Amino acid sequence: MAIERTLSIIKPDATKRNLTGKIVAKFEEAGLRVVASKRVQLTAAQAGEFYAEHKERPFFGELVAFMISEPVVLQVLEGEGAIAKNREVMGATDPAQAAEGTIRKEFALSKGENSAHGSDSEAAAAREIAFFFSGLELVG
Ligand code: PPS
Repeated sequence: MAIERTLSIIKPDATKRNLTGKIVAKFEEAGLRVVASKRVQLTAAQAGEFYAEHKERPFFGELVAFMISEPVVLQVLEGEGAIAKNREVMGATDPAQAAEGTIRKEFALSKGENSAHGSDSEAAAAREIAFFFSGLELVG
């Protein structure tokens, strides 16, 4: 399987509850390597642009408000099949549907406050990594 990179966001509900380390540990235990990491306070403009594909959905305003409610941790994760592996470790968007042992099963509060984001395709990973990181910030 190819070595890939994917964008991970540890969301405000998780940073607020001091869960950053526990979430990163789950990615590392699954064989993913953190090759870039920063804690930032997103602006509404940044969150809105990042989630632009959802701008017509009824929860868009709520999603942007949530993503700027506390700092987030942005990371690039690298490994074999990293895009799918990251999503497997996160579990389903809705914690009620997430498998045992996944981040969202253990930590998420709701479909919106669901502790982590991960890119859902190669194209999304390329766009999302470039949205937040310059090449110089990626250290493999
Ligand atoms: S998916 O995987 O695209 O089918 O999931 P979807 O339900 O479309 O959700 C896309 C992202 O929107 C977030 N979301 C919400 N935020 C706030 N309020 C509500 N009600 C809500 N429902 C969904 C969801 O957590 C997804 O965020 P990301 O960061 O992409 O995982």
